[in-house]
Amino acid sequence: MAKVKPFMIGTKNAGKFLYAGTEMLRNGGSAIDAVEASTKLVEANPKDDSVGYGGVPNLLGKVELDASIMDGGTLRTGSVGAVKGYIHVISIARMVMEKTPHVMLVGSGAELFAKAMGFKKQNLLTKEAKASYQSFLKRYAGQPKEGEKPWYVKYDVDFGLREWYDKLTEKQHGTVNIIAIDKNGDICSGVSTSGTAFKFPGRLGDSPIIGAGNYCDNRFGAAACTGRGELAIRLSLARTIVSYMENGMTIREACARGMKDINELHEKGDMNCLAMDNKGNTMSASTARESIHWYMDTDSKEPEERKGIWIKE
Ligand code: GLY
Repeated sequence: MAKVKPFMIGTKNAGKFLYAGTEMLRNGGSAIDAVEASTKLVEANPKDDSVGYGGVPNLLGKVELDASIMDGGTLRTGSVGAVKGYIHVISIARMVMEKTPHVMLVGSGAELFAKAMGFKKQNLLTKEAKASYQSFLKRYAGQPKEGEKPWYVKYDVDFGLREWYDKLTEKQHGTVNIIAIDKNGDICSGVSTSGTAFKFPGRLGDSPIIGAGNYCDNRFGAAACTGRGELAIRLSLARTIVSYMENGMTIREACARGMKDINELHEKGDMNCLAMDNKGNTMSASTARESIHWYMDTDSKEPEERKGIWIKE
């Protein structure tokens, strides 16, 4: 890794939350501390309906969170999936990385671990998220007939999950990606999400899957993803983008090629990536829109908006 000034980058929803992490980097803090600190602020933001507190709930009205963190110096990583009742899943993921021999804990096991580590349980469903769930029920579920179960609890062959999910995937994914490099040249990448709005309970996207939604390696750089997670899982997208850089592509070429790979699946749903290379260059890309990301280094007064690329099908 070339010597670069410590900095952080983040997705659109991370902008002002980079101040906290950058301040830590300025004071000599580690990339892991910086990523965790900024991600926690996004998780606590009730206005972000795709991450943490205020995240839109699953099909049964429960907020279910996923997160992962990776240390590019050691390739250690931790992740949690389908966690209910704990807001700072990025910190729980970090604990999995640092305190356990495991990489991933999910569902009730992850919640048990969080409790054992002293995290406090809390309600994550805001009034706004509840209202959006209720309007979803009205729009998609309709009123069940007398004595009939509503369709969203009849998990039978007529459920039409695939078609229903396709309808939702246009605008129903959000996630935060934050990547940092510290004074030692160590890179850390973190991802946190409430996943697809109204997802099937237990559904995991790319965010907690290392290699799919998150990957970093000090030698080559880092990448993280947002969008329809199933597509990133199928392509091991974050790892693939880092591999493209490892094999000689520029960061721009690597991100563009990753988005092209997604387009070649010809599936519904958007994909976006955020990346840094081993020289400190940054990039973002999207299959669906003009892409931007936020950059802030230890000399910055405020986060700088950087343009990415749009790779159309
Ligand atoms: N990319 C977030 C998700 O699919 O859950």
